[in-house]
Amino acid sequence: MERLQKIIANSGFCSRRKAEELIKSGKVFVNGLKVTDLGTKASYSDQITVSGHNLKLEDKEYILLYKPRGVVTTTSDEKGRKTVMDLVETTNRLYPVGRLDYDTSGLLILTNDGELTNLLIHPRSQIEKVYVAKVEGVIRSDLLKKMCLGVLVDGKKTARAKAKIKKIDKKKNFSLIEVTIHEGKNHQIKKMFEAIGYKVIKLKREKFAFLDLHGLKSGEYRHLTIKEVKTLYSLF
Ligand code: URA
Repeated sequence: MERLQKIIANSGFCSRRKAEELIKSGKVFVNGLKVTDLGTKASYSDQITVSGHNLKLEDKEYILLYKPRGVVTTTSDEKGRKTVMDLVETTNRLYPVGRLDYDTSGLLILTNDGELTNLLIHPRSQIEKVYVAKVEGVIRSDLLKKMCLGVLVDGKKTARAKAKIKKIDKKKNFSLIEVTIHEGKNHQIKKMFEAIGYKVIKLKREKFAFLDLHGLKSGEYRHLTIKEVKTLYSLF
């Protein structure tokens, strides 16, 4: 159970302050009953109507997390390491959509919407993912081109990818490269660089489809808006 204004704000309908105004002015109904008390709690499975609009959240929750390095992408870890679930406050059983390695940071979606998860992680989903990789050494553009045309990862050729060199530091001996892929094989980016002879020393996912990390610091999260969820569904 959560405060009604928080649920409304989390749905992306409006800000929490605006939700409070709407509650006070009698525009909010929970399961058909008008609610004007700001202390009222509800759950995501309640039918909530705001100014005649059904929030239709049912029991679905969608979180966009800026995963820090040093956290596992599972719901529990047998080694007792910190998991992505330790970073979010929820009463729902959420699952990560795909995975980021323990030492990878960046954008990760958590949800209990199995239908959307299946669509997003399906090998044919073609969702665009943008990573920034810090690799050891000075990157050779001919090898980067080769990587983008497809290299062998776990015995299979990767699909075409895009890469942009963001920085080369000869003194410190590293390169920063933005890579865009549409697949999601295990350790894909690290293995793609390995295939052309480079070691990834830091990796961050900056974008997933049209979503990015704007406004979030490492370890922080926000709820997707209804519009964002609908847009994700519209990709299929
Ligand atoms: N590719 C990797 O190598 N690791 C990740 O965590 C994500 C993509």
